[in-house]
Amino acid sequence: MNKPENSYCNNDISNLPFIGQGGQGKVYLLPEHKVIKVFNHKSCCTDQLFTLQVATHSRFFPKVYDYDDYSIIMDFIDGIEINKYLKKHLLSKKLALELVELIREFESLGFKKLDVHLPHIFVQLDESIKVIDPRKSFKEIQPFPYNMLKGLRNRGSLKTFFEIVKSEYPGIYLSWRESWDKIEREI
Ligand SMILES: Nc1ncnc2c1ncn2[C@@H]1O[C@H](COP(=O)(O)OP(=O)(O)O)[C@@H](O)[C@H]1O
Ligand SMILES: [Mg+2]
Repeated sequence: MNKPENSYCNNDISNLPFIGQGGQGKVYLLPEHKVIKVFNHKSCCTDQLFTLQVATHSRFFPKVYDYDDYSIIMDFIDGIEINKYLKKHLLSKKLALELVELIREFESLGFKKLDVHLPHIFVQLDESIKVIDPRKSFKEIQPFPYNMLKGLRNRGSLKTFFEIVKSEYPGIYLSWRESWDKIEREI
């Protein structure tokens, strides 16, 4: 028997509050602080599911509760997108170090893409962060967080960020700074 048209993981999404959408799919609110993300393509769903499963013990990612070929049920992530947050707040030391920890976490999880776009980073009340929508984490090779740095630059926070990283993680500072300067020189 074919599955009913709007049914994903046994949820009729036509009755669920819509939260948002991007290029890959639509996200709806579920009870118990969860969401269901319905993907346009099976391959995108498989790719994201794989990453979230690898990251299942990471404090930075939503936990997965159920999935099917086209959808994933995961935690609802509270907070505000960091690009919006930085319009009203200066980049604090805590937040800057959270960003470094996030990229270090990507690395220790074995990701090949050590990068993330600011709208996918959510700042919590205590200024810890969480990420949504990891894409091609194992397929794309990006050894430093170019898009994250570009986002911080666009928010006027890159100088502060680099100063904090320089004093706390001098090795990471040198490596990211060098990669950033090289790309910026080429543009
Ligand atoms: N786990 C989540 N918790 C809260 N909001 C979410 C969650 N996942 C997605 N969203 C919201 O839905 C929007 C689209 O989700 P996203 O995963 O980025 O979709 P796409 O892959 O299509 O870009 C996000 O910008 C965000 O506002
Ligand atoms: Mg997205």
